[in-house]
Amino acid sequence: MGSSVHEEILKLAASRGVLIDPDACRKLEDREDPLLRLEQLLHSFNEPPLVITPDMLAWELRQTENVGSAEAEPVRTVGHISSTPPPPRVVKDVTGNSTSRGNVKDFAKYFTDRFHSLKRILLRRGDMAGAMPISRAVALTRTVQVIGIVNSIHTTKNGHRILEIEDEEDRCRVLVMSEKGEDSVLKDEVIGVRGRMNRDKSMLVADALIRPDIPYNRPVEKTDSTSRVAVLSDTHVGSKTFLREEWDLMIEWLKSSPDARDINYILISGDLADGIGVYPDQEEDLEIDDVYAQYERVASYISQLPDWMRVIVMPGNHDAVRPAEPQPTFQQELQKMFDSRVTFVGNPATVELEGRKVLAYHGRSFDDIISSIPSLSWERPVEAMKEMLKRRHLAPVYGERTPLAPEKKDYMVIDEIPDVFITGHVHSYGLDDYRGVRLISGSTWQSQTSYQKMRNISPIPAKMPVFDLSTLNLSVVNFSEFYNRQKHSATRVL
Ligand SMILES: [Fe+2]
Repeated sequence: MGSSVHEEILKLAASRGVLIDPDACRKLEDREDPLLRLEQLLHSFNEPPLVITPDMLAWELRQTENVGSAEAEPVRTVGHISSTPPPPRVVKDVTGNSTSRGNVKDFAKYFTDRFHSLKRILLRRGDMAGAMPISRAVALTRTVQVIGIVNSIHTTKNGHRILEIEDEEDRCRVLVMSEKGEDSVLKDEVIGVRGRMNRDKSMLVADALIRPDIPYNRPVEKTDSTSRVAVLSDTHVGSKTFLREEWDLMIEWLKSSPDARDINYILISGDLADGIGVYPDQEEDLEIDDVYAQYERVASYISQLPDWMRVIVMPGNHDAVRPAEPQPTFQQELQKMFDSRVTFVGNPATVELEGRKVLAYHGRSFDDIISSIPSLSWERPVEAMKEMLKRRHLAPVYGERTPLAPEKKDYMVIDEIPDVFITGHVHSYGLDDYRGVRLISGSTWQSQTSYQKMRNISPIPAKMPVFDLSTLNLSVVNFSEFYNRQKHSATRVL
Protein backbone atom coordinates (compact mmCIF):
# COMPACT_ATOMS: atom_id res chain seq x y z
CA MET A 1 0.00 0.00 0.00
CA GLY A 2 1.29 3.54 -0.81
CA SER A 3 2.07 6.04 1.93
CA SER A 4 -0.66 8.39 3.23
CA VAL A 5 -0.94 12.03 2.13
CA HIS A 6 0.26 12.99 5.60
CA GLU A 7 3.44 10.96 5.18
CA GLU A 8 3.98 12.27 1.65
CA ILE A 9 3.82 15.86 2.93
CA LEU A 10 6.28 15.12 5.73
CA LYS A 11 8.58 13.36 3.27
CA LEU A 12 8.55 16.28 0.84
CA ALA A 13 9.17 18.80 3.65
CA ALA A 14 12.04 16.69 5.02
CA SER A 15 13.60 16.40 1.57
CA ARG A 16 13.75 20.23 1.44
CA GLY A 17 15.16 20.52 4.94
CA VAL A 18 12.07 22.16 6.51
CA LEU A 19 9.79 21.12 9.35
CA ILE A 20 6.05 21.47 9.16
CA ASP A 21 3.82 22.60 11.99
CA PRO A 22 1.13 19.93 12.75
CA ASP A 23 -1.70 22.46 12.20
CA ALA A 24 -0.18 23.53 8.90
CA CYS A 25 0.15 19.90 7.88
CA ARG A 26 -3.55 19.24 8.64
CA LYS A 27 -4.57 22.35 6.65
CA LEU A 28 -2.49 21.21 3.75
CA GLU A 29 -4.02 17.72 3.82
CA ASP A 30 -7.49 19.31 3.42
CA ARG A 31 -6.45 21.11 0.24
CA GLU A 32 -6.50 19.86 -3.31
CA ASP A 33 -3.05 18.89 -4.61
CA PRO A 34 -1.34 19.31 -1.23
CA LEU A 35 2.11 18.37 -2.55
CA LEU A 36 1.88 20.88 -5.39
CA ARG A 37 0.79 23.58 -2.90
CA LEU A 38 3.74 22.80 -0.69
CA GLU A 39 6.10 22.91 -3.68
CA GLN A 40 4.72 26.31 -4.70
CA LEU A 41 5.05 27.66 -1.19
CA LEU A 42 8.66 26.45 -0.91
CA HIS A 43 9.46 28.11 -4.23
CA SER A 44 8.29 31.47 -2.93
CA PHE A 45 11.08 31.71 -0.33
CA ASN A 46 14.53 33.04 -1.01
CA GLU A 47 15.79 30.89 1.83
CA PRO A 48 13.58 28.09 3.10
CA PRO A 49 12.21 28.74 6.60
CA LEU A 50 12.87 26.34 9.47
CA VAL A 51 9.18 25.64 9.99
CA ILE A 52 6.16 25.95 7.67
CA THR A 53 3.45 27.69 9.71
CA PRO A 54 -0.35 27.94 9.17
CA ASP A 55 0.18 31.68 8.39
CA MET A 56 2.37 30.78 5.47
CA LEU A 57 -0.26 28.43 4.09
CA ALA A 58 -2.92 31.13 4.39
CA TRP A 59 -0.62 33.43 2.44
CA GLU A 60 -0.11 30.79 -0.26
CA LEU A 61 -3.90 30.41 -0.55
CA ARG A 62 -4.30 34.18 -1.03
CA GLN A 63 -1.68 34.13 -3.79
CA THR A 64 -3.52 31.35 -5.59
CA GLU A 65 -6.79 33.25 -5.35
CA ASN A 66 -5.10 36.33 -6.80
CA VAL A 67 -4.31 34.59 -10.08
CA GLY A 68 -6.27 36.41 -12.76
CA SER A 69 -6.86 39.47 -10.58
CA ALA A 70 -5.32 42.89 -11.19
CA GLU A 71 -2.33 41.97 -9.00
CA ALA A 72 -1.36 38.99 -11.11
CA GLU A 73 1.58 39.17 -13.51
CA PRO A 74 0.28 40.43 -16.85
CA VAL A 75 0.32 38.04 -19.78
CA ARG A 76 3.24 38.82 -22.05
CA THR A 77 2.32 40.18 -25.41
CA VAL A 78 4.22 38.73 -28.29
CA GLY A 79 6.28 40.95 -30.54
CA HIS A 80 5.73 40.98 -34.28
CA ILE A 81 7.87 41.17 -37.35
CA SER A 82 7.61 44.49 -39.09
CA SER A 83 9.81 46.77 -41.14
CA THR A 84 8.99 49.66 -38.80
CA PRO A 85 9.38 48.51 -35.23
CA PRO A 86 6.40 49.32 -32.99
CA PRO A 87 6.94 52.45 -30.91
CA PRO A 88 8.01 52.07 -27.29
CA ARG A 89 5.19 52.18 -24.77
CA VAL A 90 6.05 54.29 -21.74
CA VAL A 91 4.80 52.39 -18.70
CA LYS A 92 6.13 54.50 -15.84
CA ASP A 93 7.63 57.98 -15.94
CA VAL A 94 7.34 61.12 -13.80
CA THR A 95 7.28 63.34 -16.92
CA GLY A 96 4.05 65.33 -16.87
CA ASN A 97 3.09 63.92 -13.47
CA SER A 98 5.38 65.80 -11.11
CA THR A 99 3.57 67.28 -8.09
CA SER A 100 6.54 68.05 -5.87
CA ARG A 101 6.85 71.52 -4.37
CA GLY A 102 9.44 70.30 -1.88
CA ASN A 103 7.69 71.31 1.35
CA VAL A 104 7.66 69.34 4.60
CA LYS A 105 4.22 67.84 3.92
CA ASP A 106 5.44 66.57 0.54
CA PHE A 107 8.36 64.78 2.22
CA ALA A 108 6.07 63.10 4.74
CA LYS A 109 3.80 61.88 1.90
CA TYR A 110 6.79 60.72 -0.12
CA PHE A 111 8.17 58.55 2.67
CA THR A 112 4.70 57.19 3.50
CA ASP A 113 4.33 56.10 -0.13
CA ARG A 114 7.82 54.55 -0.10
CA PHE A 115 6.98 52.62 3.07
CA HIS A 116 3.59 51.37 1.84
CA SER A 117 4.78 50.44 -1.64
CA LEU A 118 7.66 48.36 -0.30
CA LYS A 119 5.60 46.91 2.54
CA ARG A 120 3.14 45.62 -0.07
CA ILE A 121 5.96 43.88 -1.90
CA LEU A 122 7.37 42.42 1.34
CA LEU A 123 3.96 41.06 2.33
CA ARG A 124 3.81 39.06 -0.90
CA ARG A 125 6.70 36.96 0.42
CA GLY A 126 5.86 33.70 2.15
CA ASP A 127 8.33 34.38 4.97
CA MET A 128 6.72 37.73 5.85
CA ALA A 129 3.20 36.29 6.04
CA GLY A 130 2.77 36.93 9.76
CA ALA A 131 4.22 40.48 9.83
CA MET A 132 2.61 42.73 12.45
CA PRO A 133 2.85 46.39 13.48
CA ILE A 134 5.90 47.26 15.59
CA SER A 135 3.63 48.42 18.47
CA ARG A 136 2.22 44.89 18.80
CA ALA A 137 5.45 43.04 18.19
CA VAL A 138 7.38 44.79 20.98
CA ALA A 139 4.94 43.51 23.59
CA LEU A 140 5.38 39.84 22.65
CA THR A 141 8.00 37.33 23.75
CA ARG A 142 7.74 34.95 20.77
CA THR A 143 9.38 35.27 17.37
CA VAL A 144 7.77 38.08 15.39
CA GLN A 145 8.10 39.73 11.98
CA VAL A 146 7.90 43.47 11.47
CA ILE A 147 8.43 45.87 8.58
CA GLY A 148 10.06 49.26 9.00
CA ILE A 149 11.99 52.02 7.33
CA VAL A 150 15.57 52.27 8.63
CA ASN A 151 16.01 55.57 10.50
CA SER A 152 19.54 55.07 11.76
CA ILE A 153 22.36 52.53 11.85
CA HIS A 154 25.03 52.35 14.58
CA THR A 155 27.88 49.90 14.84
CA THR A 156 28.96 48.87 18.35
CA LYS A 157 32.56 48.33 19.48
CA ASN A 158 32.08 44.59 18.96
CA GLY A 159 30.85 45.04 15.41
CA HIS A 160 27.16 44.43 16.18
CA ARG A 161 24.71 46.74 14.46
CA ILE A 162 21.87 48.59 16.08
CA LEU A 163 19.20 49.84 13.71
CA GLU A 164 16.26 52.01 14.53
CA ILE A 165 13.28 51.11 12.36
CA GLU A 166 9.92 52.82 12.13
CA ASP A 167 6.47 51.98 10.76
CA GLU A 168 3.28 54.11 10.58
CA GLU A 169 2.84 54.34 14.33
CA ASP A 170 5.86 53.15 16.27
CA ARG A 171 9.57 52.56 16.18
CA CYS A 172 11.99 50.10 17.76
CA ARG A 173 15.65 49.26 18.00
CA VAL A 174 16.89 46.15 16.24
CA LEU A 175 20.09 44.35 17.21
CA VAL A 176 21.87 42.58 14.35
CA MET A 177 24.69 40.48 15.79
CA SER A 178 28.02 40.71 13.96
CA GLU A 179 28.04 36.96 13.21
CA LYS A 180 25.08 37.49 10.87
CA GLY A 181 27.65 39.11 8.53
CA GLU A 182 25.10 41.78 7.56
CA ASP A 183 26.90 44.96 6.57
CA SER A 184 24.68 46.15 3.78
CA VAL A 185 21.76 47.80 5.58
CA LEU A 186 21.17 51.22 4.07
CA LYS A 187 19.67 54.22 5.78
CA ASP A 188 16.05 54.78 4.63
CA GLU A 189 15.61 51.34 3.10
CA VAL A 190 12.41 49.47 3.94
CA ILE A 191 13.21 46.13 5.49
CA GLY A 192 11.54 43.14 7.11
CA VAL A 193 12.91 41.84 10.41
CA ARG A 194 12.28 38.46 11.98
CA GLY A 195 13.35 38.27 15.60
CA ARG A 196 12.43 38.19 19.26
CA MET A 197 12.42 40.95 21.87
CA ASN A 198 15.26 40.73 24.41
CA ARG A 199 14.53 40.14 28.07
CA ASP A 200 14.09 43.79 29.10
CA LYS A 201 12.10 44.47 25.90
CA SER A 202 14.46 47.27 24.87
CA MET A 203 15.48 45.71 21.56
CA LEU A 204 14.35 43.28 18.90
CA VAL A 205 17.15 40.76 18.41
CA ALA A 206 17.17 39.98 14.69
CA ASP A 207 17.22 36.44 13.57
CA ALA A 208 17.01 37.48 9.91
CA LEU A 209 16.67 40.63 7.82
CA ILE A 210 14.31 40.14 4.91
CA ARG A 211 14.29 42.25 1.74
CA PRO A 212 11.48 42.62 -0.82
CA ASP A 213 13.76 41.11 -3.51
CA ILE A 214 12.92 39.34 -6.79
CA PRO A 215 11.41 35.83 -6.60
CA TYR A 216 13.94 33.36 -7.92
CA ASN A 217 11.62 31.09 -9.83
CA ARG A 218 10.40 33.58 -12.44
CA PRO A 219 10.17 31.94 -15.84
CA VAL A 220 11.70 33.85 -18.76
CA GLU A 221 9.65 32.94 -21.79
CA LYS A 222 10.79 33.46 -25.36
CA THR A 223 8.72 35.70 -27.59
CA ASP A 224 8.75 35.72 -31.39
CA SER A 225 10.14 39.25 -31.62
CA THR A 226 12.99 39.55 -34.10
CA SER A 227 14.26 42.88 -32.76
CA ARG A 228 17.34 43.66 -30.77
CA VAL A 229 18.08 46.70 -28.62
CA ALA A 230 21.41 48.52 -28.36
CA VAL A 231 22.35 50.55 -25.30
CA LEU A 232 24.43 53.70 -25.38
CA SER A 233 25.13 55.73 -22.28
CA ASP A 234 27.00 58.77 -21.09
CA THR A 235 27.89 60.23 -24.47
CA HIS A 236 28.85 63.56 -22.82
CA VAL A 237 28.70 65.45 -26.10
CA GLY A 238 30.33 68.87 -25.77
CA SER A 239 33.30 67.57 -23.81
CA LYS A 240 36.78 67.65 -25.34
CA THR A 241 37.04 63.99 -24.36
CA PHE A 242 34.00 62.85 -26.42
CA LEU A 243 35.23 59.88 -28.47
CA ARG A 244 34.33 61.07 -31.95
CA GLU A 245 36.38 58.44 -33.75
CA GLU A 246 34.81 55.52 -31.84
CA TRP A 247 31.35 57.08 -32.30
CA ASP A 248 31.91 57.24 -36.07
CA LEU A 249 33.04 53.59 -36.11
CA MET A 250 29.86 52.65 -34.26
CA ILE A 251 27.65 54.55 -36.73
CA GLU A 252 29.45 52.93 -39.66
CA TRP A 253 28.96 49.46 -38.10
CA LEU A 254 25.25 50.08 -37.44
CA LYS A 255 24.74 51.18 -41.06
CA SER A 256 26.74 48.45 -42.75
CA SER A 257 27.01 45.31 -40.64
CA PRO A 258 24.52 42.47 -41.25
CA ASP A 259 24.66 41.94 -37.46
CA ALA A 260 23.08 45.36 -36.95
CA ARG A 261 20.06 44.84 -39.22
CA ASP A 262 17.80 43.64 -36.44
CA ILE A 263 18.82 46.39 -34.00
CA ASN A 264 15.51 48.24 -34.08
CA TYR A 265 15.87 50.20 -30.87
CA ILE A 266 18.63 52.29 -29.32
CA LEU A 267 18.28 53.33 -25.70
CA ILE A 268 20.51 56.10 -24.35
CA SER A 269 20.58 56.01 -20.56
CA GLY A 270 21.50 59.59 -19.70
CA ASP A 271 24.27 62.17 -19.72
CA LEU A 272 23.73 62.88 -23.41
CA ALA A 273 25.51 66.23 -23.13
CA ASP A 274 28.36 67.16 -20.78
CA GLY A 275 26.47 70.22 -19.48
CA ILE A 276 27.97 73.27 -17.88
CA GLY A 277 29.09 73.84 -14.29
CA VAL A 278 28.43 70.23 -13.28
CA TYR A 279 31.83 69.81 -11.56
CA PRO A 280 34.63 72.23 -10.58
CA ASP A 281 36.56 73.77 -13.51
CA GLN A 282 34.49 71.84 -16.06
CA GLU A 283 34.89 74.69 -18.58
CA GLU A 284 38.49 73.61 -19.15
CA ASP A 285 37.23 70.23 -20.38
CA LEU A 286 34.56 71.64 -22.72
CA GLU A 287 34.74 71.82 -26.49
CA ILE A 288 31.25 73.38 -26.66
CA ASP A 289 30.52 75.78 -23.82
CA ASP A 290 26.88 76.56 -24.66
CA VAL A 291 24.17 74.19 -23.46
CA TYR A 292 21.91 74.66 -26.51
CA ALA A 293 24.84 74.13 -28.86
CA GLN A 294 25.69 70.93 -26.96
CA TYR A 295 22.16 69.56 -27.57
CA GLU A 296 22.21 70.63 -31.22
CA ARG A 297 25.30 68.49 -31.55
CA VAL A 298 23.66 65.58 -29.69
CA ALA A 299 20.70 65.82 -32.07
CA SER A 300 22.98 65.81 -35.10
CA TYR A 301 24.80 62.69 -33.81
CA ILE A 302 21.51 60.91 -33.15
CA SER A 303 20.32 61.77 -36.65
CA GLN A 304 23.27 59.71 -37.96
CA LEU A 305 21.72 56.51 -36.56
CA PRO A 306 20.14 54.36 -39.30
CA ASP A 307 16.63 55.57 -40.00
CA TRP A 308 14.85 52.28 -39.25
CA MET A 309 15.88 52.54 -35.60
CA ARG A 310 13.70 53.98 -32.88
CA VAL A 311 15.59 55.90 -30.24
CA ILE A 312 14.71 56.31 -26.57
CA VAL A 313 16.57 58.95 -24.58
CA MET A 314 16.56 59.82 -20.91
CA PRO A 315 18.42 62.51 -18.95
CA GLY A 316 21.24 62.01 -16.45
CA ASN A 317 22.82 64.26 -13.85
CA HIS A 318 24.84 66.18 -16.49
CA ASP A 319 21.77 66.98 -18.58
CA ALA A 320 19.77 70.22 -18.69
CA VAL A 321 16.79 69.09 -16.60
CA ARG A 322 16.04 69.39 -12.87
CA PRO A 323 18.74 67.56 -10.91
CA ALA A 324 16.34 66.01 -8.37
CA GLU A 325 15.18 62.49 -9.16
CA PRO A 326 12.85 61.37 -10.57
CA GLN A 327 13.89 63.71 -13.38
CA PRO A 328 11.19 64.71 -15.87
CA THR A 329 12.46 64.58 -19.44
CA PHE A 330 13.95 67.38 -21.57
CA GLN A 331 11.92 70.52 -22.18
CA GLN A 332 10.17 71.07 -25.54
CA GLU A 333 12.76 73.60 -26.66
CA LEU A 334 15.43 70.89 -26.63
CA GLN A 335 13.13 68.10 -27.90
CA LYS A 336 12.39 70.18 -31.02
CA MET A 337 16.01 69.76 -32.14
CA PHE A 338 15.59 65.97 -32.55
CA ASP A 339 13.89 63.93 -35.26
CA SER A 340 10.49 62.35 -34.71
CA ARG A 341 11.67 58.76 -34.09
CA VAL A 342 13.09 59.85 -30.71
CA THR A 343 10.99 59.06 -27.63
CA PHE A 344 11.89 61.23 -24.63
CA VAL A 345 11.43 59.74 -21.18
CA GLY A 346 12.35 60.84 -17.68
CA ASN A 347 14.87 59.28 -15.33
CA PRO A 348 14.02 56.62 -14.23
CA ALA A 349 11.50 55.22 -16.70
CA THR A 350 9.99 51.90 -17.60
CA VAL A 351 9.26 51.33 -21.28
CA GLU A 352 7.77 48.33 -22.97
CA LEU A 353 9.46 47.24 -26.19
CA GLU A 354 7.54 44.58 -28.12
CA GLY A 355 6.16 43.14 -24.89
CA ARG A 356 9.38 43.32 -22.84
CA LYS A 357 9.59 45.62 -19.83
CA VAL A 358 12.78 47.64 -19.74
CA LEU A 359 13.63 49.66 -16.65
CA ALA A 360 16.19 52.38 -17.35
CA TYR A 361 17.80 54.50 -14.65
CA HIS A 362 20.79 56.76 -15.18
CA GLY A 363 22.32 55.68 -11.88
CA ARG A 364 23.20 58.68 -9.71
CA SER A 365 22.48 56.59 -6.60
CA PHE A 366 25.51 54.39 -7.37
CA ASP A 367 27.43 57.21 -5.65
CA ASP A 368 25.60 56.49 -2.37
CA ILE A 369 25.13 52.73 -2.61
CA ILE A 370 28.70 51.88 -3.62
CA SER A 371 30.15 54.04 -0.85
CA SER A 372 27.78 52.53 1.77
CA ILE A 373 28.21 48.80 1.10
CA PRO A 374 31.79 47.61 1.67
CA SER A 375 31.67 44.70 -0.79
CA LEU A 376 30.74 46.93 -3.77
CA SER A 377 33.10 48.66 -6.19
CA TRP A 378 32.90 51.10 -9.10
CA GLU A 379 34.38 48.44 -11.35
CA ARG A 380 31.40 46.09 -10.85
CA PRO A 381 28.30 48.30 -11.16
CA VAL A 382 26.09 45.26 -11.85
CA GLU A 383 26.62 44.16 -8.22
CA ALA A 384 25.19 47.50 -7.04
CA MET A 385 22.27 47.00 -9.46
CA LYS A 386 21.53 43.68 -7.71
CA GLU A 387 21.39 45.56 -4.39
CA MET A 388 18.79 47.91 -5.93
CA LEU A 389 16.71 44.93 -7.10
CA LYS A 390 16.95 43.23 -3.69
CA ARG A 391 15.57 46.41 -2.09
CA ARG A 392 13.16 46.98 -5.03
CA HIS A 393 14.34 50.60 -4.91
CA LEU A 394 16.62 52.62 -7.20
CA ALA A 395 17.80 55.16 -4.62
CA PRO A 396 17.27 53.91 -1.06
CA VAL A 397 19.59 56.41 0.66
CA TYR A 398 18.09 59.84 1.19
CA GLY A 399 20.01 63.03 1.91
CA GLU A 400 23.43 62.12 0.53
CA ARG A 401 24.61 62.61 -3.07
CA THR A 402 21.40 61.66 -4.87
CA PRO A 403 18.93 64.54 -4.73
CA LEU A 404 15.38 63.17 -4.46
CA ALA A 405 12.22 65.20 -5.14
CA PRO A 406 9.34 64.39 -2.77
CA GLU A 407 6.75 63.27 -5.32
CA LYS A 408 3.44 61.95 -3.94
CA LYS A 409 4.34 58.59 -5.37
CA ASP A 410 7.84 57.14 -5.01
CA TYR A 411 8.90 56.68 -8.64
CA MET A 412 12.14 55.10 -7.47
CA VAL A 413 10.32 51.99 -6.18
CA ILE A 414 10.70 49.01 -8.52
CA ASP A 415 7.10 47.85 -8.22
CA GLU A 416 6.97 45.82 -11.42
CA ILE A 417 9.77 43.37 -12.05
CA PRO A 418 11.49 44.35 -15.32
CA ASP A 419 12.80 41.93 -17.92
CA VAL A 420 15.85 44.13 -18.44
CA PHE A 421 17.38 46.71 -16.09
CA ILE A 422 19.69 49.30 -17.66
CA THR A 423 21.89 51.92 -15.99
CA GLY A 424 24.77 54.25 -16.90
CA HIS A 425 26.61 56.94 -14.92
CA VAL A 426 29.64 54.93 -13.79
CA HIS A 427 31.36 54.96 -17.23
CA SER A 428 32.23 51.35 -16.68
CA TYR A 429 30.33 48.55 -18.27
CA GLY A 430 28.88 45.20 -17.28
CA LEU A 431 26.36 42.54 -18.20
CA ASP A 432 24.82 40.10 -15.77
CA ASP A 433 21.63 38.41 -14.69
CA TYR A 434 19.84 38.51 -11.36
CA ARG A 435 17.05 35.96 -10.91
CA GLY A 436 16.04 36.23 -14.55
CA VAL A 437 16.34 40.05 -14.74
CA ARG A 438 19.00 40.95 -17.30
CA LEU A 439 21.36 43.66 -16.06
CA ILE A 440 23.16 46.11 -18.33
CA SER A 441 25.50 48.83 -17.16
CA GLY A 442 26.14 51.04 -20.18
CA SER A 443 29.64 52.14 -21.07
CA THR A 444 30.51 55.71 -22.10
CA TRP A 445 31.60 57.61 -25.22
CA GLN A 446 33.98 59.84 -23.31
CA SER A 447 37.61 59.09 -22.40
CA GLN A 448 39.06 59.91 -18.98
CA THR A 449 38.54 63.54 -17.95
CA SER A 450 41.00 65.42 -15.73
CA TYR A 451 38.40 65.31 -12.95
CA GLN A 452 38.14 61.53 -13.25
CA LYS A 453 41.94 61.26 -13.31
CA MET A 454 42.09 63.22 -10.07
CA ARG A 455 39.52 60.87 -8.51
CA ASN A 456 41.24 57.78 -9.91
CA ILE A 457 38.29 56.72 -12.08
CA SER A 458 39.24 54.71 -15.18
CA PRO A 459 36.39 54.54 -17.66
CA ILE A 460 35.69 51.58 -19.97
CA PRO A 461 34.48 53.45 -23.06
CA ALA A 462 33.02 52.66 -26.49
CA LYS A 463 31.31 49.38 -25.73
CA MET A 464 27.78 48.89 -26.96
CA PRO A 465 25.67 46.30 -25.10
CA VAL A 466 22.98 44.68 -27.24
CA PHE A 467 20.09 42.47 -26.17
CA ASP A 468 17.67 40.31 -27.98
CA LEU A 469 13.98 40.93 -27.23
CA SER A 470 12.99 37.33 -27.91
CA THR A 471 15.49 35.43 -25.75
CA LEU A 472 16.89 38.34 -23.71
CA ASN A 473 20.40 37.15 -24.63
CA LEU A 474 23.02 39.80 -23.96
CA SER A 475 26.07 40.62 -26.05
CA VAL A 476 28.45 43.52 -26.51
CA VAL A 477 30.04 45.17 -29.53
CA ASN A 478 33.38 46.75 -28.79
CA PHE A 479 34.42 49.95 -30.56
CA SER A 480 37.20 50.94 -28.21
CA GLU A 481 40.56 52.05 -29.62
CA PHE A 482 42.03 48.73 -28.58
CA TYR A 483 40.16 46.97 -31.38
CA ASN A 484 40.59 49.90 -33.70
CA ARG A 485 39.34 50.13 -37.24
CA GLN A 486 39.94 46.56 -38.34
CA LYS A 487 37.72 44.52 -36.13
CA HIS A 488 34.87 44.69 -33.71
CA SER A 489 34.23 41.86 -31.34
CA ALA A 490 30.66 40.74 -30.90
CA THR A 491 30.94 38.62 -27.78
CA ARG A 492 27.98 36.67 -26.58
CA VAL A 493 28.03 36.84 -22.83
CA LEU A 494 24.76 35.29 -21.68
FE1 LIG B 1 26.10 60.59 -14.79
